[in-house]
Amino acid sequence: MKSSRLSETTSLVESWENRLYLEQLVIPSAPSEMGGDDVINGLTQKPKSLPPRYFYDDRGSKLFELICELPEYYLTRTETEILRAYAKAIALITGPTELVELGSGSSTKTRILLDAYAKLGYPLRYLPIDISESILESSAHQLLLDYPLLQVHGIVSTYDLALAKLAPSPLPTRMLCFLGSTLGNMNPEECDIFFSQIVGAMQPGEYFLLGIDLHKSAEILEPAYNDSQGVTAAFNLNMLQHLNRLFEGNFDLAQFKHWAFYNQELQQIEMHLQSQKAQKVELRGLNLTVEFAAGETIRSEISRKFDLQIIQQELSHRCLIPIQVWTDANQRFGLVLSQLR
Ligand code: TRP
Repeated sequence: MKSSRLSETTSLVESWENRLYLEQLVIPSAPSEMGGDDVINGLTQKPKSLPPRYFYDDRGSKLFELICELPEYYLTRTETEILRAYAKAIALITGPTELVELGSGSSTKTRILLDAYAKLGYPLRYLPIDISESILESSAHQLLLDYPLLQVHGIVSTYDLALAKLAPSPLPTRMLCFLGSTLGNMNPEECDIFFSQIVGAMQPGEYFLLGIDLHKSAEILEPAYNDSQGVTAAFNLNMLQHLNRLFEGNFDLAQFKHWAFYNQELQQIEMHLQSQKAQKVELRGLNLTVEFAAGETIRSEISRKFDLQIIQQELSHRCLIPIQVWTDANQRFGLVLSQLR
């Protein structure tokens, strides 16, 4: 008797496998898919640079999760606090919606939104997009176990490919989420291209939720990217390890050092890898030899800081009309909800 009742209840809820659809648009471990042209480009220019997407192999994604919990790294904590306070307000504005998240990672912050939509009785459909297959898979699995009514369509991809292939939402509307101030990791030109890809993937009336880190003093900014435990340093150096694996390289990690500072003029944090001596590095898979002078750096990341007024104007210029803006009490971080006209 008991067991038959049990099977009746379980049949009401689809098993997690049936609520999951995983799509792979890029195979991150395949050098051909990861291009490598961008690596050649960056390492043959002066000053040298590398594209940030090479941070995120499996280890890189895990290290990044650790960064988010560091005491000095206020960004994640503050954005979480804002989401906790206003997720319900966001859900009430959009109504039932499909959530698409670019760079979903562990989807920890997304749970706050999912909870708010679930509480209002809205159907739950989530499309996480991430370059790391392992983190996408494990977070999707965990979400499906925790949310018995959730449908997940995960996409292993870069942003541009996924945005170009986004099918129309089966729900009344859609909200694209771009959290964590990842926008700040793009330079103004990349930002421009990204916004047109976002707009190109949206239908009029759909929403765009953007999380951005705001201007503040270097005394608060610099420690966030130079933590006392050295996690950010390990994250930065891991990029070289990732390149070694992808492109048969021989970067000696002991001969490079993490260096991060706030560039006042450009209002951005810059992360570099500094060569500790004059050296040559080979990336056989790319047929590339790179020479470093002692002290020469590779810029691996920028993290631009934003002004809420200016970003709203920039969104408006692209027909993304700001609906509401939320910040924390100290105005450290901002969330902007806009709607495509
Ligand atoms: N977008 C976040 C930021 O700019 C997270 C991030 C990207 C980051 N790359 C990073 C954090 C490198 C620390 C180090 O802060």
